[in-house]
Amino acid sequence: MVKGFLCPVCGKLLIEEEKSYKCENNHCFDKAKQGYVNLLPSNSQKGHGDNKLMINARREFLQKGYYEHLKNKLCEVIEQHSSDGFSCLDSGCGEGYYTKGIYKTICKKDGQVYAIDVSKEALKFASKSCDNVKFAVASAYKMPFDNECFDIVTSVFAPLAKDEFYRILKQNGLFITVFPLENHLFSLKKAIYDAPYPNKPENTGLSGFELISSSEIKKNICLNCNKDIVNLFMMTPYYYKTSANDQKKLNDLNELMVETEFMLLVYRKIKQ
Ligand SMILES: C[S@@+](CC[C@H](N)C(=O)[O-])C[C@H]1O[C@@H](n2cnc3c(N)ncnc32)[C@H](O)[C@@H]1O
Ligand SMILES: [Zn+2]
Repeated sequence: MVKGFLCPVCGKLLIEEEKSYKCENNHCFDKAKQGYVNLLPSNSQKGHGDNKLMINARREFLQKGYYEHLKNKLCEVIEQHSSDGFSCLDSGCGEGYYTKGIYKTICKKDGQVYAIDVSKEALKFASKSCDNVKFAVASAYKMPFDNECFDIVTSVFAPLAKDEFYRILKQNGLFITVFPLENHLFSLKKAIYDAPYPNKPENTGLSGFELISSSEIKKNICLNCNKDIVNLFMMTPYYYKTSANDQKKLNDLNELMVETEFMLLVYRKIKQ
């Protein structure tokens, strides 16, 4: 069992009350009306995480079900590796598209799910969509959790805070991550750039962990309206680095067949 969030000021356990979380030293954090709690220290509140525009684009795109096959695969892997009463943290959960699936899988075995993201805007959506998950605005690089309290940590297209993942996972706990492969969305890049290049391959070595399984998930998807094409582009890290002129190339595009290619890795924490 995860006892709960830890106070970002003094590190003591936060006790959940109806409208807030409070530690024994009386540090109090109000719940937002959507249910999440903001545990980011006040000096690191601004300019972090995905903004409203990126979040809306991703939410609209994911709601259309284009990445459902990935969500299903992630849940299948979690189902396969989880036992009764397992606890799971979704780190960098965004608007909670995958978190919701994780919760549905884990709750069948009476498990608990926590989720954090550094973006308050993302958590406004996430906490509305899954009531029983405990959400906090917090950084993956300084998590409000005790050592060795989770059975599973997931990080889907989110920052890899390796040391913190290691710290909060129980011995033999699992770390599950998803990232794009080299040719992911290559046809979308071709529609924008004169000389597109593939994504750089990820380094999959992780000290303190052994890799226990890897799955490539590849599927061509057909986007059949301009909004979906633009939303997908806005979800990518290169959108904000692309000139206005190049961005305009998508204006008249109403249909696009595009490759989606992901890697899903499962690691087990080992003794160091
Ligand atoms: C590409 S999005 C993925 C969101 C979600 N996992 C999904 O796949 O739909 C990356 C997320 O990581 C969050 N993020 C960025 N830096 C973070 C940090 N230091 N700690 C926690 N989350 C962070 C962003 O706010 C964003 O929601
Ligand atoms: Zn405190």
